[in-house]
Amino acid sequence: MEMADRIPEHVTIIMDGNGRWAKQRGEERLFGHSEGKESVRACVEYAVEKGIKYLSLFAFSEENWNRPRAEVEGLMHLMLKAIMDETPLFHKNGIRFRVIGDFGKLSRELRNRIEECMSITEMYERLNLVIFLSYSGKWDIVQAVNRFMKENPGKEIDSCGLEKYMATAGIPDPDLLIRTSGEERLSNYMLWQTAYTEFYFTDVLWPDFRKTEFQRALDAFAKRERRFGRV
Ligand code: FPP
Repeated sequence: MEMADRIPEHVTIIMDGNGRWAKQRGEERLFGHSEGKESVRACVEYAVEKGIKYLSLFAFSEENWNRPRAEVEGLMHLMLKAIMDETPLFHKNGIRFRVIGDFGKLSRELRNRIEECMSITEMYERLNLVIFLSYSGKWDIVQAVNRFMKENPGKEIDSCGLEKYMATAGIPDPDLLIRTSGEERLSNYMLWQTAYTEFYFTDVLWPDFRKTEFQRALDAFAKRERRFGRV
């Protein structure tokens, strides 16, 4: 297969380094998040251009609720604004927008906007954009086990059976996981779904991760040999 043909079906990104990017410029952390939103747009556009089917982004973890209140509120506001500003881009490019996470912790306004945007883009299939918000991998496994037990009383849990109850049900496991800013860990992200995912780490901070950096990660992926436990 030609290198350019080996496009991953599902790319997921841990967007990290917004705070440091802002600090380097003597700005508040939210300035970095706001610039990070521009990287989101650039990556979404590039994913459409490259024919990637699923792009998922770790936008806010369960643990992030412990950040200072002003930063949490600022991030939630940014998220709300991003949904309102970017909906025309979703229509123009045939993008299905989805959010996965513990919705119970989100404000009613944000939840309503998310649900509205998910429903009006439901018919699109050129790119699936999946935002992980108020999400953690352990939370996902626990909620899946609980739902499985509730709906299948007395039945033994097996991995295929559990899969249907994961918050990501119906979404293929990520082929490539990118993490920016030099950190090389999973930070309680998709623990279950990344069993055979290729990892790509870069020192570039998220607000600087645009088309060129994305292409670099795709090139690195194209060179990997995936054996899925076989020889
Ligand atoms: C990590 O950087 C980044 C986040 C916790 C938030 C990511 C959110 C955005 C990019 C906003 C827009 C998102 C969408 C989906 C429209 P950090 O704050 O941990 O940076 P640091 O490690 O340098 O402190």
